[in-house]
Amino acid sequence: MSAVKDGIAPHGGTLINRLASPEQKKEFESKAENLPRVALDQRAASDLVMIAIGGFSPLTGFMGKADYEPVVTDMRLASGVPWSVPVTLSVSEAVAEPLKIGELVRLDDENGRFIGVLELSEKYTYDKKKEAINVYRTDEDKHPGVKVVYDQGPINLAGDVWLLARDAHPLFPDYQIDPVESRKQFRDRGWKTIVGFQTRNPIHRAHEYIQKCALETVDGLFLHPLVGATKSDDIPADVRMRCYEIMMERYFPQDRVILAINPSAMRYAGPREAIFHALIRKNYGCTHFIVGRDHAGVGDYYGTYDAQAIFDEFEAGELGITPMKFEHAFYCTRTSTMATTKTSPSTPEERVHLSGTKVRALLREGKMPPPEFSRPEVAAELVKAMQG
Ligand code: ADX
Repeated sequence: MSAVKDGIAPHGGTLINRLASPEQKKEFESKAENLPRVALDQRAASDLVMIAIGGFSPLTGFMGKADYEPVVTDMRLASGVPWSVPVTLSVSEAVAEPLKIGELVRLDDENGRFIGVLELSEKYTYDKKKEAINVYRTDEDKHPGVKVVYDQGPINLAGDVWLLARDAHPLFPDYQIDPVESRKQFRDRGWKTIVGFQTRNPIHRAHEYIQKCALETVDGLFLHPLVGATKSDDIPADVRMRCYEIMMERYFPQDRVILAINPSAMRYAGPREAIFHALIRKNYGCTHFIVGRDHAGVGDYYGTYDAQAIFDEFEAGELGITPMKFEHAFYCTRTSTMATTKTSPSTPEERVHLSGTKVRALLREGKMPPPEFSRPEVAAELVKAMQG
């Protein structure tokens, strides 16, 4: 049974590889000048990478209507396999109009660099408001994920893709560990149970607490910060990664933890994105996935534990990865430790909570977040970065 020998089965059963072979690459490059071009924004470019490296298995390309519609309404692909967030290539009518079904389309990045190829199978219109309400649970354009949907083109281009080359990440080459490699590393370390951790914020002590609580019960921790597109007021990925490096050096047992980057873009879709995040980590080989308070949330669009409750909408075993759900963690001044209301007898006054917003305000004033919230070395790094 290869699924057991090689670790947890990827979503849909097969780890997708859409990286062009050397022969395909040569062929695509020889045709490139004559192919119609579509420029990918940062999100679409990272989606292309995620499809190619198998992070979005079983997707082999940008979604056609037969997948898109049930994903939006029922969180399922046409095959019935669970999938919670559309992965689409949306363009203007002017871009879509001359493209012919069945032809190859050259995909360029924002700088005009040739990075991939789409075999166009379909062009279709879609209902933005319906996507917003179903996927993001709001149609307000103040929501950063909804705004992206409203701002993008009205036509989706669908079809299988190839990534021309898997280039080293310009900022984090040492942490670029793709699903084939993470699965190998888990095997080499003899880990049978691995918990994945998604994050887009600088690591704080509540993160560390839930990561370590999870690690008490599994073989390994896969720290997987998202480094794709985020909203402009989120802390930049290079600063967040430096904080993680500090933590790896000093506060984590290195033989039980792997730090790697997740190249994909944030959607801020809260509950729907928690499922999406879990399926991505399943493809990287994780058996478990941490879902804490307001996972992938923004503002007050989602209830604190909505992203946990959504996992119960699937049959047992259907997702193929086990969520590890954590309550809102805080520093408890009575017991002098990190805790949640499940383990702490504290009154609300004895709980130190700091929100990302409050921390950003402190940092802007050059003030260190307190040690109850952040490890001092991490706090110092953040202050330095914000002043720079
Ligand atoms: S997210 O958008 O990537 O979810 P963030 O990096 O803040 O944002 O969170 C990473 C993970 O830690 C998520 O699962 C989130 O629910 C969890 N988390 C963040 N802060 C807390 C906290 N104080 N208590 C419990 N879980 C938390």
